[in-house]
Amino acid sequence: MRDLKGKVAVVTGAASGIGRAMADAFAAEGARVVLADIEEAPLAAAGRELEAQGAEVLAVRTDVTQSEALVALADAAESRFGTTHIVCNNAGVAPIAPMLETALEDWRWVFEVNLFGVVHGIQAFAQRLVDQGEGHIVNTASSGGLITVPGFGAYCATKHAVVGLSEVLYQELSGTGVGVSVLCPGLIDTKIFESERNRPADGGPTDYGKIGAGARKSINELGHSPKGVAQKVVEAIREERMHILPNDDVVPVVEERFRRILAGENPIVMPSVEE
Ligand SMILES: NC(=O)c1ccc[n+]([C@@H]2O[C@H](COP(=O)([O-])OP(=O)(O)OC[C@H]3O[C@@H](n4cnc5c(N)ncnc54)[C@H](O)[C@@H]3O)[C@@H](O)[C@H]2O)c1
Repeated sequence: MRDLKGKVAVVTGAASGIGRAMADAFAAEGARVVLADIEEAPLAAAGRELEAQGAEVLAVRTDVTQSEALVALADAAESRFGTTHIVCNNAGVAPIAPMLETALEDWRWVFEVNLFGVVHGIQAFAQRLVDQGEGHIVNTASSGGLITVPGFGAYCATKHAVVGLSEVLYQELSGTGVGVSVLCPGLIDTKIFESERNRPADGGPTDYGKIGAGARKSINELGHSPKGVAQKVVEAIREERMHILPNDDVVPVVEERFRRILAGENPIVMPSVEE
Protein backbone atom coordinates (compact mmCIF):
# COMPACT_ATOMS: atom_id res chain seq x y z
CA MET A 1 0.00 0.00 0.00
CA ARG A 2 2.10 2.90 -1.26
CA ASP A 3 -0.22 5.77 -0.33
CA LEU A 4 -2.07 5.95 2.99
CA LYS A 5 -4.01 9.10 2.10
CA GLY A 6 -7.75 8.53 2.49
CA LYS A 7 -7.24 4.96 3.76
CA VAL A 8 -9.00 3.80 6.91
CA ALA A 9 -6.74 2.59 9.73
CA VAL A 10 -8.03 0.81 12.85
CA VAL A 11 -5.73 0.72 15.89
CA THR A 12 -6.43 -1.17 19.12
CA GLY A 13 -4.74 0.06 22.29
CA ALA A 14 -4.85 3.48 20.61
CA ALA A 15 -5.28 5.58 23.75
CA SER A 16 -1.66 5.29 24.87
CA GLY A 17 1.93 4.61 23.88
CA ILE A 18 2.68 2.81 20.61
CA GLY A 19 -0.98 2.61 19.54
CA ARG A 20 -1.47 6.33 20.00
CA ALA A 21 1.75 7.03 18.08
CA MET A 22 0.58 4.79 15.21
CA ALA A 23 -2.77 6.61 15.09
CA ASP A 24 -0.92 9.96 14.98
CA ALA A 25 1.38 8.71 12.20
CA PHE A 26 -1.51 7.37 10.09
CA ALA A 27 -3.42 10.64 10.52
CA ALA A 28 -0.29 12.59 9.50
CA GLU A 29 -0.28 10.51 6.28
CA GLY A 30 -3.87 11.62 5.60
CA ALA A 31 -5.53 8.37 6.71
CA ARG A 32 -8.86 8.28 8.53
CA VAL A 33 -8.39 6.64 11.91
CA VAL A 34 -10.51 4.39 14.10
CA LEU A 35 -9.24 4.40 17.68
CA ALA A 36 -10.12 1.48 19.94
CA ASP A 37 -9.19 1.05 23.58
CA ILE A 38 -10.60 -0.25 26.85
CA GLU A 39 -9.78 3.00 28.68
CA GLU A 40 -12.62 5.39 27.98
CA ALA A 41 -11.27 8.80 29.09
CA PRO A 42 -7.81 8.58 27.42
CA LEU A 43 -9.53 7.19 24.31
CA ALA A 44 -11.91 10.14 24.11
CA ALA A 45 -9.02 12.56 24.73
CA ALA A 46 -6.97 10.96 21.93
CA GLY A 47 -9.96 11.28 19.60
CA ARG A 48 -10.41 14.97 20.42
CA GLU A 49 -6.69 15.70 19.99
CA LEU A 50 -6.51 14.02 16.59
CA GLU A 51 -9.69 15.77 15.45
CA ALA A 52 -8.24 19.10 16.54
CA GLN A 53 -5.28 18.34 14.26
CA GLY A 54 -7.72 17.96 11.35
CA ALA A 55 -7.98 14.16 11.22
CA GLU A 56 -11.20 12.25 10.54
CA VAL A 57 -11.61 10.09 13.64
CA LEU A 58 -13.91 7.49 15.12
CA ALA A 59 -13.27 6.38 18.71
CA VAL A 60 -14.90 3.16 19.90
CA ARG A 61 -14.47 1.76 23.40
CA THR A 62 -13.38 -1.83 22.78
CA ASP A 63 -12.26 -4.67 25.02
CA VAL A 64 -10.13 -6.86 22.74
CA THR A 65 -10.69 -9.90 24.96
CA GLN A 66 -14.30 -9.99 23.68
CA SER A 67 -14.57 -11.37 20.12
CA GLU A 68 -17.95 -9.68 19.55
CA ALA A 69 -16.41 -6.30 20.46
CA LEU A 70 -13.99 -6.62 17.52
CA VAL A 71 -16.85 -7.52 15.16
CA ALA A 72 -18.74 -4.45 16.43
CA LEU A 73 -15.58 -2.38 15.84
CA ALA A 74 -15.28 -3.61 12.24
CA ASP A 75 -19.00 -2.85 11.70
CA ALA A 76 -18.60 0.63 13.24
CA ALA A 77 -15.60 1.41 11.00
CA GLU A 78 -17.56 0.22 7.97
CA SER A 79 -20.67 2.26 8.76
CA ARG A 80 -18.65 5.43 9.43
CA PHE A 81 -15.99 5.20 6.71
CA GLY A 82 -17.32 2.52 4.31
CA THR A 83 -14.46 0.08 4.85
CA THR A 84 -11.14 -0.61 6.58
CA HIS A 85 -7.70 -0.88 4.96
CA ILE A 86 -5.21 -1.13 7.84
CA VAL A 87 -5.76 -3.07 11.08
CA CYS A 88 -3.27 -2.78 13.93
CA ASN A 89 -3.89 -5.44 16.58
CA ASN A 90 -1.81 -3.63 19.16
CA ALA A 91 -3.52 -3.62 22.60
CA GLY A 92 -1.36 -5.37 25.15
CA VAL A 93 -0.54 -5.84 28.82
CA ALA A 94 2.63 -6.92 30.62
CA PRO A 95 2.08 -8.35 34.09
CA ILE A 96 5.71 -9.12 34.89
CA ALA A 97 6.72 -11.51 37.65
CA PRO A 98 8.85 -14.63 37.97
CA MET A 99 6.93 -17.61 36.60
CA LEU A 100 6.69 -19.36 39.96
CA GLU A 101 4.96 -16.26 41.35
CA THR A 102 2.63 -15.59 38.42
CA ALA A 103 -0.96 -16.40 39.29
CA LEU A 104 -3.02 -18.44 36.85
CA GLU A 105 -5.45 -15.51 36.59
CA ASP A 106 -2.61 -13.34 35.25
CA TRP A 107 -1.58 -16.04 32.74
CA ARG A 108 -5.17 -16.07 31.48
CA TRP A 109 -5.42 -12.25 31.43
CA VAL A 110 -2.23 -11.74 29.42
CA PHE A 111 -3.21 -14.49 26.97
CA GLU A 112 -6.74 -13.04 26.59
CA VAL A 113 -5.41 -9.56 25.76
CA ASN A 114 -2.08 -10.18 23.96
CA LEU A 115 -2.95 -13.35 22.04
CA PHE A 116 -6.74 -13.60 21.80
CA GLY A 117 -6.97 -9.84 21.26
CA VAL A 118 -4.94 -10.37 18.08
CA VAL A 119 -6.91 -13.48 17.09
CA HIS A 120 -10.21 -11.61 17.57
CA GLY A 121 -8.92 -8.75 15.41
CA ILE A 122 -7.92 -11.14 12.64
CA GLN A 123 -11.25 -12.95 12.79
CA ALA A 124 -13.26 -9.73 12.64
CA PHE A 125 -11.31 -7.97 9.87
CA ALA A 126 -9.17 -10.31 7.74
CA GLN A 127 -11.91 -11.80 5.57
CA ARG A 128 -13.30 -8.31 4.86
CA LEU A 129 -9.84 -7.17 3.70
CA VAL A 130 -9.42 -10.29 1.55
CA ASP A 131 -12.87 -9.76 0.00
CA GLN A 132 -11.92 -6.22 -1.06
CA GLY A 133 -8.48 -7.44 -2.26
CA GLU A 134 -6.63 -4.72 -0.38
CA GLY A 135 -5.39 -4.19 3.14
CA HIS A 136 -2.62 -4.59 5.68
CA ILE A 137 -2.68 -6.20 9.12
CA VAL A 138 -0.04 -5.21 11.70
CA ASN A 139 0.13 -7.38 14.81
CA THR A 140 2.10 -5.99 17.73
CA ALA A 141 4.33 -8.67 19.24
CA SER A 142 7.59 -7.61 20.92
CA SER A 143 11.30 -8.34 20.96
CA GLY A 144 9.97 -10.66 23.69
CA GLY A 145 8.50 -12.67 20.80
CA LEU A 146 12.00 -13.35 19.44
CA ILE A 147 14.07 -13.52 22.62
CA THR A 148 13.31 -14.44 26.25
CA VAL A 149 13.76 -12.45 29.47
CA PRO A 150 13.36 -13.54 33.13
CA GLY A 151 10.22 -12.06 34.69
CA PHE A 152 8.41 -12.09 31.35
CA GLY A 153 7.38 -15.76 31.12
CA ALA A 154 3.68 -15.26 30.40
CA TYR A 155 4.33 -12.15 28.31
CA CYS A 156 7.02 -13.84 26.17
CA ALA A 157 4.74 -16.85 25.65
CA THR A 158 2.03 -14.60 24.17
CA LYS A 159 4.46 -12.62 22.03
CA HIS A 160 6.17 -15.74 20.61
CA ALA A 161 2.66 -16.91 19.70
CA VAL A 162 1.89 -13.60 17.96
CA VAL A 163 5.10 -13.82 15.90
CA GLY A 164 4.24 -17.39 14.92
CA LEU A 165 0.63 -16.77 13.94
CA SER A 166 1.59 -13.62 12.04
CA GLU A 167 4.12 -15.50 9.91
CA VAL A 168 1.50 -18.14 9.13
CA LEU A 169 -1.06 -15.45 8.27
CA TYR A 170 1.49 -13.72 6.01
CA GLN A 171 1.93 -16.95 4.06
CA GLU A 172 -1.77 -17.77 3.92
CA LEU A 173 -2.77 -14.30 2.69
CA SER A 174 0.04 -14.10 0.14
CA GLY A 175 -1.45 -13.15 -3.24
CA THR A 176 -4.73 -11.82 -1.79
CA GLY A 177 -3.65 -8.16 -1.77
CA VAL A 178 -3.58 -8.18 2.04
CA GLY A 179 -0.16 -7.70 3.64
CA VAL A 180 0.81 -8.81 7.14
CA SER A 181 3.48 -7.39 9.44
CA VAL A 182 4.54 -8.23 12.96
CA LEU A 183 5.94 -5.44 15.10
CA CYS A 184 8.72 -6.47 17.53
CA PRO A 185 9.88 -3.41 19.48
CA GLY A 186 12.45 -3.43 22.26
CA LEU A 187 12.00 -1.10 25.24
CA ILE A 188 9.68 1.78 24.32
CA ASP A 189 8.78 4.58 26.70
CA THR A 190 5.05 3.92 27.30
CA LYS A 191 2.73 2.92 30.15
CA ILE A 192 3.11 -0.83 29.46
CA PHE A 193 4.55 -1.51 32.93
CA GLU A 194 1.48 0.12 34.46
CA SER A 195 -0.75 -2.53 32.89
CA GLU A 196 -2.34 -3.31 36.28
CA ARG A 197 -4.59 -0.32 35.58
CA ASN A 198 -6.52 -2.51 33.14
CA ARG A 199 -6.45 -5.74 35.08
CA PRO A 200 -9.90 -7.32 35.40
CA ALA A 201 -11.49 -7.20 38.85
CA ASP A 202 -11.06 -10.97 39.17
CA GLY A 203 -7.34 -10.71 38.24
CA GLY A 204 -4.65 -12.56 40.10
CA PRO A 205 -2.89 -11.56 43.29
CA THR A 206 0.54 -11.24 41.62
CA ASP A 207 2.62 -8.56 43.31
CA TYR A 208 4.73 -6.68 40.77
CA GLY A 209 6.95 -5.58 43.67
CA LYS A 210 10.61 -5.02 42.92
CA ILE A 211 10.50 -6.35 39.41
CA GLY A 212 7.75 -3.90 38.39
CA ALA A 213 9.67 -0.96 39.84
CA GLY A 214 12.85 -2.12 38.06
CA ALA A 215 11.00 -2.42 34.77
CA ARG A 216 9.45 1.05 35.11
CA LYS A 217 12.86 2.54 35.91
CA SER A 218 14.50 0.92 32.87
CA ILE A 219 11.69 1.92 30.52
CA ASN A 220 11.93 5.53 31.69
CA GLU A 221 15.72 5.59 31.39
CA LEU A 222 16.27 3.45 28.29
CA GLY A 223 12.93 3.38 26.44
CA HIS A 224 12.88 4.62 22.86
CA SER A 225 10.21 6.98 21.57
CA PRO A 226 6.88 5.47 20.38
CA LYS A 227 6.93 8.00 17.54
CA GLY A 228 9.99 6.35 15.95
CA VAL A 229 8.25 2.95 16.15
CA ALA A 230 5.14 4.32 14.42
CA GLN A 231 7.26 5.72 11.59
CA LYS A 232 8.78 2.26 11.03
CA VAL A 233 5.26 0.81 10.88
CA VAL A 234 4.22 3.28 8.19
CA GLU A 235 7.37 2.40 6.18
CA ALA A 236 6.73 -1.34 6.59
CA ILE A 237 3.15 -1.00 5.30
CA ARG A 238 4.43 0.99 2.30
CA GLU A 239 7.22 -1.47 1.56
CA GLU A 240 5.14 -4.57 2.47
CA ARG A 241 7.74 -5.66 5.03
CA MET A 242 6.74 -8.52 7.34
CA HIS A 243 9.07 -8.24 10.35
CA ILE A 244 9.41 -4.81 11.94
CA LEU A 245 12.31 -4.54 14.42
CA PRO A 246 12.44 -0.83 15.21
CA ASN A 247 15.23 -1.12 17.82
CA ASP A 248 18.71 -1.88 16.43
CA ASP A 249 19.97 -2.92 19.90
CA VAL A 250 17.66 -5.96 19.81
CA VAL A 251 19.22 -7.44 16.63
CA PRO A 252 22.45 -8.88 18.14
CA VAL A 253 20.45 -10.42 21.01
CA VAL A 254 18.14 -12.17 18.52
CA GLU A 255 21.14 -13.34 16.47
CA GLU A 256 22.84 -14.75 19.56
CA ARG A 257 19.70 -16.60 20.66
CA PHE A 258 19.30 -18.33 17.30
CA ARG A 259 23.04 -19.02 17.03
CA ARG A 260 22.95 -20.81 20.39
CA ILE A 261 19.83 -22.79 19.47
CA LEU A 262 21.39 -23.97 16.21
CA ALA A 263 24.77 -24.70 17.86
CA GLY A 264 23.11 -26.75 20.62
CA GLU A 265 24.29 -24.29 23.27
CA ASN A 266 22.17 -23.37 26.30
CA PRO A 267 20.63 -19.86 26.58
CA ILE A 268 22.47 -16.98 28.23
CA VAL A 269 20.96 -16.37 31.67
CA MET A 270 19.82 -12.77 31.26
CA PRO A 271 19.76 -10.51 34.33
CA SER A 272 16.32 -9.85 35.77
CA VAL A 273 15.09 -6.25 35.36
CA GLU A 274 15.14 -5.75 39.14
CA GLU A 275 18.97 -6.11 39.24
N1 LIG B 1 6.52 -0.41 25.59
C1 LIG B 1 7.34 -1.40 25.26
O1 LIG B 1 8.52 -1.44 25.69
C2 LIG B 1 6.86 -2.49 24.34
C3 LIG B 1 7.82 -3.32 23.75
C4 LIG B 1 7.40 -4.33 22.92
C5 LIG B 1 6.05 -4.51 22.65
N2 LIG B 1 5.13 -3.68 23.23
C6 LIG B 1 3.73 -3.92 22.92
O2 LIG B 1 3.17 -2.74 22.38
C7 LIG B 1 1.74 -2.78 22.54
C8 LIG B 1 1.26 -1.44 23.04
O3 LIG B 1 1.73 -1.25 24.37
P1 LIG B 1 2.38 0.14 24.88
O4 LIG B 1 3.80 -0.13 25.16
O5 LIG B 1 1.99 1.23 24.01
O6 LIG B 1 1.67 0.22 26.34
P2 LIG B 1 0.51 1.21 26.89
O7 LIG B 1 0.11 0.64 28.19
O8 LIG B 1 1.02 2.61 26.84
O9 LIG B 1 -0.66 1.03 25.81
C9 LIG B 1 -1.41 -0.18 25.76
C10 LIG B 1 -2.86 0.17 25.48
O10 LIG B 1 -3.63 -1.06 25.42
C11 LIG B 1 -4.86 -0.82 26.10
N3 LIG B 1 -5.49 -2.07 26.55
C12 LIG B 1 -5.12 -2.87 27.58
N4 LIG B 1 -5.99 -3.89 27.71
C13 LIG B 1 -6.92 -3.73 26.73
C14 LIG B 1 -8.07 -4.47 26.34
N5 LIG B 1 -8.46 -5.57 27.01
N6 LIG B 1 -8.78 -4.03 25.27
C15 LIG B 1 -8.42 -2.90 24.61
N7 LIG B 1 -7.36 -2.15 24.94
C16 LIG B 1 -6.61 -2.58 25.99
C17 LIG B 1 -4.48 0.10 27.26
O11 LIG B 1 -5.61 0.78 27.79
C18 LIG B 1 -3.47 1.02 26.60
O12 LIG B 1 -4.09 2.18 26.07
C19 LIG B 1 1.47 -3.95 23.48
O13 LIG B 1 1.02 -5.06 22.74
C20 LIG B 1 2.83 -4.23 24.10
O14 LIG B 1 2.96 -5.55 24.54
C21 LIG B 1 5.51 -2.67 24.07
